[in-house]
Amino acid sequence: MTRVRKAVLPVAGLGTRILPAAKTTPKNLLNVFDRPILAHVVAEGRAAGIEHFIFVVGRGQGAIEDYFDRAYELETELAAKGRTEVLEAVRADLLQPGQMSFVRQMSPLGLGHAVWCARDLIGDEPFAVMLPDMLMDARPPALAQAIAAHDAVGGNIVVVEPAPPGETHKYGIVSLGETATGFDGRLAVMTGMVEKPPPGTEPSNLFISGRYILQPQIFGALATHEKGAGGEIQLTDAMLHLLETQRFHALQYEGVTYDCGDPVGLLRANVAYALKHPALGAEARQAVARFFEA
Ligand code: G1P
Repeated sequence: MTRVRKAVLPVAGLGTRILPAAKTTPKNLLNVFDRPILAHVVAEGRAAGIEHFIFVVGRGQGAIEDYFDRAYELETELAAKGRTEVLEAVRADLLQPGQMSFVRQMSPLGLGHAVWCARDLIGDEPFAVMLPDMLMDARPPALAQAIAAHDAVGGNIVVVEPAPPGETHKYGIVSLGETATGFDGRLAVMTGMVEKPPPGTEPSNLFISGRYILQPQIFGALATHEKGAGGEIQLTDAMLHLLETQRFHALQYEGVTYDCGDPVGLLRANVAYALKHPALGAEARQAVARFFEA
């Protein structure tokens, strides 16, 4: 089994659901308590063994590159002032030389197109896709759970979870067949998928929630640039093509997902990550509780 070493993170989206907050700050650099959303997602990838992060970026997103790179002036100042803890926190998020690449998606043509932009950097090996709007709080990390499923059954793995009632039309929805052995019934063969089905036509309530392990043949399916739901080139449609020749499994991962692409989801993530913060959690709890005092 080829090891999953690379992850594609499509970050070029305009963030329309979270404007004007994301007008001048790339939406994935908005904050979840003590660091940007994207830093949490990259930490998840590193904990799952990812060695190379490929960011698919758009115009005006240079701050993403800077975030994961060294900031000599800042680090020198912090060191000179003896601010060791802060310095360590800043350095903890840095990627190593050669561990990150950036590729420009020159037009916002959809998620499938964004992933296709990374084709030359992936080459001929299985890879992960991490949708950075979706913060997944899980032990082991969500991507590690997906990689464990890939190690067990091979092929392609899509992480899914039940959609909130009445919201299936907002997502990619899967249909399932036989359950795989192990994984407590949470891993099953995928028999179909549809992107943003009109209400009432959804094949199940399980939505594609933001972590994938894909075989490189997906790039052949994406190369047709066929437009799907919303006039966009959809990853879901390319996966449906690949399903004709390859196996897909859906994994219901164990953990909690926060959709940070809209203001309320981002607020939920902020509260959750504040409350569980090792150093500041207790203080955060008091601060939140104060809102509910009579
Ligand atoms: C994308 C995918 C969809 C998935 C969703 C998760 O949609 O196309 O299949 O369920 O992410 O957030 P988007 O949110 O870009 O419309």
